[in-house]
Amino acid sequence: MIGVLVSGEGSNLQALINAGLPIAAVASNRAEVRALERAEAAGIPARVFDLAQYVDRDARDRDIADWLELRGVDFVVLAGYMHLLTPSFLDRFPERVVNVHPSLLPAFPGARAIDDALAAGVDTTGVTVHFVDQGLDTGAVIRQEPVTVEPRSTLVQRIHAVEHRLLPQVVQELCAR
Ligand code: GRF
Repeated sequence: MIGVLVSGEGSNLQALINAGLPIAAVASNRAEVRALERAEAAGIPARVFDLAQYVDRDARDRDIADWLELRGVDFVVLAGYMHLLTPSFLDRFPERVVNVHPSLLPAFPGARAIDDALAAGVDTTGVTVHFVDQGLDTGAVIRQEPVTVEPRSTLVQRIHAVEHRLLPQVVQELCAR
């Protein structure tokens, strides 16, 4: 079963739901985000794990991992999740945590990948699905797809469209292994 970690809009969560993947739980580090509404609408148990309620990040991450395990999760997808994960989480799901990122990593890691690519003046950026380690978008690349920067007015939209196709595809393949 799949657990999805979110922080915001949740359009990648929606793509996973629409692909019919077996999602058992959705965990968010922020309350009142659109992703939680999407989980609720799909009848998927969802919970908020607010860092402010814990002594530290380790304690919070352990709590998320406990809750996911209770729900039968053995594969975790970060879909717009904006916090780094500690070993207390990652050690529980070895090689079983993936993330989607809007650039061709290792180029443009971090939260502003699309803006950074535009600022750098590259012709081509893209989408990466990768394994998650403790670093910021540093885990082993699983699959990448390039996206041309031009036409700029639709770049964000085109990148998201690729994410919404690539992420469910890769997750499906990895879960079938
Ligand atoms: C996506 O662009 C994803 O690549 C990045 O954050 C964004 C999340 O969008 N990590 P959403 O919450 O899935 O709509």
